[in-house]
Amino acid sequence: MANHGKVKVGIIGSQFEADIHAASFQIMPEEAEVVAVCSPTPGHPEALAKRYGIPRVFHDYREMLQDREIEMVTVAAPNSLHAEMTNAIARSGKHIVCEKPLCMTLEDADQMIEVCRANGVLLMYAEELFFTPKYVKAKEMADQGAFGKVYLVKQSEKHFGPHASWFWDVDRSGGGVFMDMGCHGIAFCQWFYNRSAVKTVFCQMGTYVHQDKTRGEDNSICILEFENGAVGLVEDSWARRGGMDDCIEIYGEGGVTYADLHMGNALPTFSEYGYGYAVEKAPTTAGWTWPVFGELWNYGFPQEMRHFARCVRGKEEPQATGEDGRRVMEVMYAGYASASAGTKIKLPFTPPAGVKKPIDLWLKLKS
Ligand SMILES: NC(=O)c1ccc[n+]([C@@H]2O[C@H](COP(=O)([O-])OP(=O)(O)OC[C@H]3O[C@@H](n4cnc5c(N)ncnc54)[C@H](O)[C@@H]3O)[C@@H](O)[C@H]2O)c1
Repeated sequence: MANHGKVKVGIIGSQFEADIHAASFQIMPEEAEVVAVCSPTPGHPEALAKRYGIPRVFHDYREMLQDREIEMVTVAAPNSLHAEMTNAIARSGKHIVCEKPLCMTLEDADQMIEVCRANGVLLMYAEELFFTPKYVKAKEMADQGAFGKVYLVKQSEKHFGPHASWFWDVDRSGGGVFMDMGCHGIAFCQWFYNRSAVKTVFCQMGTYVHQDKTRGEDNSICILEFENGAVGLVEDSWARRGGMDDCIEIYGEGGVTYADLHMGNALPTFSEYGYGYAVEKAPTTAGWTWPVFGELWNYGFPQEMRHFARCVRGKEEPQATGEDGRRVMEVMYAGYASASAGTKIKLPFTPPAGVKKPIDLWLKLKS
C-alpha cells in the first residue's frame, strides 16, 4: 500500500448510498480514487463500476479485502452487516468509513472500535451532517457567539419511507425511522453542542401509516437534555408525503437561525408535464415541485469523503469517529426504552441482556 498519492478506495454495496459514495469521490477527486466495488447481486456492482469508471468488481467483500492496493473501504450495506464487515476490513489492515447507524448493538460498537484500534486503522463514521455546508455555517455562527447561549437545537428529517425492503425489516435495520434517520439528528445535536454528554432521553414514536410494511415506527419525536443545560429536539418521519425534507433550527438567548436544506436551496417550480428529477424520494415532478441542485454537495457528501481520505493520509484528524457512532447508538437504545416506558431515560443506559437491536425495547410494548 502506498502512503502517498490518492487514497485507493473500495466500496461495499452498489445501490443507493454506494452510488453517493462513488459520485462523491468523483465530484472531489483530488484526494482519493475508487478502485473497486463489491456487492453480491450479479450485474449490480458491474453497473456501478461502469457508471463511475471503477476498474475492479467483486461479489464477495472478503475477496475485495485481499486486494492489496485498497487502503480505505466504505461500508454502504444494510445495518445488520456493518459490524461484521468493519471487523473484517480492520483485520485486513484497511481504514473504514462505516455508514450510519454504526451497527445494531453496543457490544458490536465496542468491538468494532477495539478491533480497529488493535489493527491500527481508522474507524470513521459517515455522518454527513457534520459536513453539510448550511449546517456547518450555522455551527460556525453559534461558535462565534451569534446566538448567545444556545438553548435549543432542532433537527428533522422526513420522507415517505425508504427505497429498499431491508429498511422495513427490523431484523436487518435494527429499527424504524428513529434508527434510520434519528441517528442523524442525535449526532447533529451532539456535534452542535461540541459533544456535551446527553443526560436524558425522552421519545414518542408510533407506526401511523405503514403498518402493512413494517413492525418499525414510522414517526418519532425525541427530546435530549444535555449536560450543558441545553436541549435537542429530533423529529423524523417515514410518513411524510412529498419527498425529502431536512431542516434545522437553532435558538439562543441572543438569536436564532433556520436552515431548510432542500426547499431552501430549491427553485420553486410549476410544471404541467414533469421533468427528470426534483429531490430524493420525490414521488412526482409534475405540478408544484422544489427541484434541488448540487444535492450531494449541499448535503456535504463529497466534502465528507474528501475529509476521510485526508485522514488516511494523516492530513486531518477524523471529525466523525466510531465513538460518535457509539454515543448515538446508546441514545437510540435509551430512546426506544423511553418510548416503551413513556418516561425519560437517564444516561448512561445499558440495555438489558439479550437485546439484539434497539427496537426490541419498544417492540416489547407492542406485542
Ligand atoms: N448517510 C446517509 O444519509 C445515508 C443514506 C442512505 C443510506 N445510508 C446507509 O447506507 C447503508 C446502505 O443503505 P442503502 O440505502 O445504500 O441500501 P441499498 O439497499 O440501496 O443498498 C445496499 C447494498 O448493500 C449490498 N449488500 C447486501 N448484502 C451484502 C453483502 N453481504 N456484501 C456486500 N454487499 C452487500 C446490496 O447488494 C446493495 O448493493 C445503510 O446502512 C444505510 O443506513 C446512509
